[in-house]
Amino acid sequence: MGTTYRARLLSPAEEGWTHWPDARLVVRDGRVAEAGPWRRGGRADVDLRPHFVFPGLVDVHAHVPQLPVCGVHPENLLEWLRRWTFPLERRFRGERARELSRRYFREMLAQGTTAAALYTSAWPDSVEACFEEAAALGLHAWIGPPLMDVDPYRPVTTRRVLDEARALARLDSPERRFVVTPRFALSATRELLAGCAALARERDLPIQTHLAEQQPECEEVRARFGRDYLDVYDEAGLLTPRTIFAHAIWLSASDWRRLARARCAVAHCPTSNVFLGSGVMDWKRARAGRMALGSDVGAGPDLSLFRVARMAWTLHSLNGGPPDAGDLLRAATVDGASALGFDDLGALRPGFVADFIVLDAAQVVPPGAPKAESTADLLSRILHRAGRSAVCQVYIAGVLRHER
Ligand code: GUN
Ligand code: ZN
Repeated sequence: MGTTYRARLLSPAEEGWTHWPDARLVVRDGRVAEAGPWRRGGRADVDLRPHFVFPGLVDVHAHVPQLPVCGVHPENLLEWLRRWTFPLERRFRGERARELSRRYFREMLAQGTTAAALYTSAWPDSVEACFEEAAALGLHAWIGPPLMDVDPYRPVTTRRVLDEARALARLDSPERRFVVTPRFALSATRELLAGCAALARERDLPIQTHLAEQQPECEEVRARFGRDYLDVYDEAGLLTPRTIFAHAIWLSASDWRRLARARCAVAHCPTSNVFLGSGVMDWKRARAGRMALGSDVGAGPDLSLFRVARMAWTLHSLNGGPPDAGDLLRAATVDGASALGFDDLGALRPGFVADFIVLDAAQVVPPGAPKAESTADLLSRILHRAGRSAVCQVYIAGVLRHER
C-alpha cells in the first residue's frame, strides 16, 4: 500500500543530483518506499504535475524567540544582543513562549524548512514548549536553551544552569535531540563550558554554539580568557563530531584544520553575517569540511533557506567565483541533515523520511523557458528564484502539514 505521488522530482543523490522530469514517489509509513521514473500504466494517488517535489530544507542554526526582532536595527553583534535580543528572550516563557513557538514552526514550514537546530530562550519552560510544538508536527530537530552564567538575563548560578540542562536532557529522543547549547564564550565561565562538554559526553548529546562571529567579540574573548576563541572551546572539550559552530568567520588556517580533524560541523549564516556586518566566512575551507546553512533568525531577516543559499552564492561569487547551485542546495538539504546526525533525512531516496516540499513550477521556471532543461539549469533556477511564495505544500513524514 502507501501513497503514490506523480511529479517532477529533484533530490540530492550520493553524489550530484537526481532529476526525474516525470517521477513516481511512493511513501509508506512516513518513509520513501520507492523513488524513480514514472511507469507507464501506473496510477497516482496524488498527481502534483507540473510542480516539483524537492526535499524539505534543513536550517542548522536559528533562534526561536528572535523571530519578532528580524530586520530591525543592524548594529554590531554585542550591542544588538544587549539592546534588542536579550530583552526579547527574557520575555520568552510561559504562554508567550508556547504561542510564539507555534507561530515560529508555522512560519518555518511555510518557508519550506522541515528540520532545524534551534535555540530557545534560557527559561526551561520555553524548551518544553518548543519540544511539544515540534513533536506535534513530527519535526526532526535539535532544541536547546542558550546556557549562560555571565551577564545572563535572569538570576542564575553556574550550578543551577547545569542542573537545569541535565534535567531538560530527559526530553531527548531520536527525532528531537536535546542539544547542549553554551551560548558563546562571552556568556560563559570556563566552568560552564567544561560542564557543558561533560554533560554532552555523559548523555551522548549534541552541542551547538557560536564561534568567531565578529572581530570585537574575538578580541573580548582573548582579553577575558587569554586564549584564541577556538582554543577556549577546545580546552573545554567542546570540539566533537556532534558539535555545530555557527558563523566561524574570524578563524586561522590552523583553526580550520583543527575543526576538520575533530569533524565538527559549521553553520554558515550569510544573511545574518551581512545584516550585522560580521564578515565573510572562508567558503573554500568550510566546504572542504562539514558545512550546512543557517538562517540565524533574528540576525537573519527571515527563515528562508533559499534566501540564505542565494546570499551565500552572491557573497562567494564576489569572493573567489560562484559556488555551484547544486552544492548550495545540498548544503540546504542533505548536508544539513547530516550535520544534525539524521542520516535518513534531506533526500528522497528509499528508506529516507518522507519530508518533502512541493515547489510551484511557474514560479521556478519563467514562462517561455525551454521545455527541456538540464538538471544544473533547474537547480540554478531553484536557487535564484524559489522562496516562500513558491512553496505550495509541505509534507512531514508523508503527512501534509502546510498548504499555501
Ligand atoms: N552570539 C551569541 N548569541 C548570539 C545570537 O543570539 N545571535 C547571533 N547572531 N550571535 C550570537
Ligand atoms: Zn545565532
